[in-house]
Amino acid sequence: MNNMFMNTYNRLPVTFAKGEGAYLYDVNGKKYLDFGSGIAVNLLGHNYPPLVKAVQEQAQKFFHVCNYYQTDVTLAFAEKLIEACAPGGMKKVFLGNSGAEANEGACKIARKYSLKKYGEGRHTIVTLKGSFHGRTITTLAATGQDKFHKDFGPFTEGFLHIPGGDINELDKALDPKKVAGLFMEAIQGESGIVPQSQEYLEAAAKLCAERDILLMFDEIQCGMGRTGTFLAFEQYKDAGGNPIKADIVTLAKGLCGGIPAGAVLAGEKVSEVLVPGDHGSTFGANPIAAAAGLVILDTVNKPDFFNNIKLKGEKLITEIKALPKVKEARGKGLMIGIDIERESWPFLQTALEKGLLLLSSGGNTLRLLPSYIITDKEIEQGIGIIKDLLNAG
Ligand SMILES: Cc1ncc(COP(=O)(O)O)c(C=O)c1O
Repeated sequence: MNNMFMNTYNRLPVTFAKGEGAYLYDVNGKKYLDFGSGIAVNLLGHNYPPLVKAVQEQAQKFFHVCNYYQTDVTLAFAEKLIEACAPGGMKKVFLGNSGAEANEGACKIARKYSLKKYGEGRHTIVTLKGSFHGRTITTLAATGQDKFHKDFGPFTEGFLHIPGGDINELDKALDPKKVAGLFMEAIQGESGIVPQSQEYLEAAAKLCAERDILLMFDEIQCGMGRTGTFLAFEQYKDAGGNPIKADIVTLAKGLCGGIPAGAVLAGEKVSEVLVPGDHGSTFGANPIAAAAGLVILDTVNKPDFFNNIKLKGEKLITEIKALPKVKEARGKGLMIGIDIERESWPFLQTALEKGLLLLSSGGNTLRLLPSYIITDKEIEQGIGIIKDLLNAG
């Protein structure tokens, strides 16, 4: 290990040199099965030929033009992305670089919508305890986990964290005189794969609609097909039995399959809120990212593909539940949290030695976010390694 980098990450002792499908290879040629896909980023694994080709071809045209102009590839990507998010109620998109940036944009849209319609003082954004929304000062303020706040205040004001799952608390928190938006992950990722209940999201959709409070979903980890629908919240129903529709959705991570990108999508109500001068991003709408994103959307956004994700996820969770020393396994599709009887980080280290890459959600929770191209055989291989490690511990 070296000491060039700021000490921001606990790193495992490995240096990777190449990847192929669901595998990564270190500098000594050792092969590792990747059950984390770079924390939900490499949706189609490593070195996926159509993705590589699209990036290479775009790189030969141009890398970047500024947002004074549009490009053919970014227009095509935006159109397909809005189409993919249309079942969730989305109409327009702003393209940026990362999840935190997308969430900042989401908060700006919510605040401006409320200010223009209701005036000063109605700017609070309600988020859930256990949520994770990013590392900038504002997205940290949105994040409902105190461990990330220590040492970095003062934060952007106007965020209220409430416990998820408690409809009375939600009702009390959503004060129409003060609150601009309710922002949440349908399935919390960083805090251990915690899905919201149907009742909770149904109540949230109803209360938000009645009070003109914007319903905002952070789909950065759980979106892009990971749970078997393009957006995870699509699987929840409103009081009329129809899929829930949002006002604002954010995406990043796997959006462009490993090329940095983020997006804020806006539903009808807020699609015209931002005007020239309100918001921007130098690298937003990057043509290489858009070329990659087009391949991701063309590949992933299909019923058969989603069905396959669901089937693989069911296989994975069934096999995990049958393992010894697993206290609980939960999740949807290829987004799975596993509580084990010992600390997860040392477990990751021993898994690495055995050639398996896992993720941790802190404490005793392991997190699995494999790429969508993982095969049944690879699932069995990974489960075999986890089983041996659990038996040995
Ligand atoms: C749900 C969620 N929101 C936001 C973020 C922040 O994304 P980024 O690291 O791209 O800023 C993350 C990253 O883990 C996330 O999981």
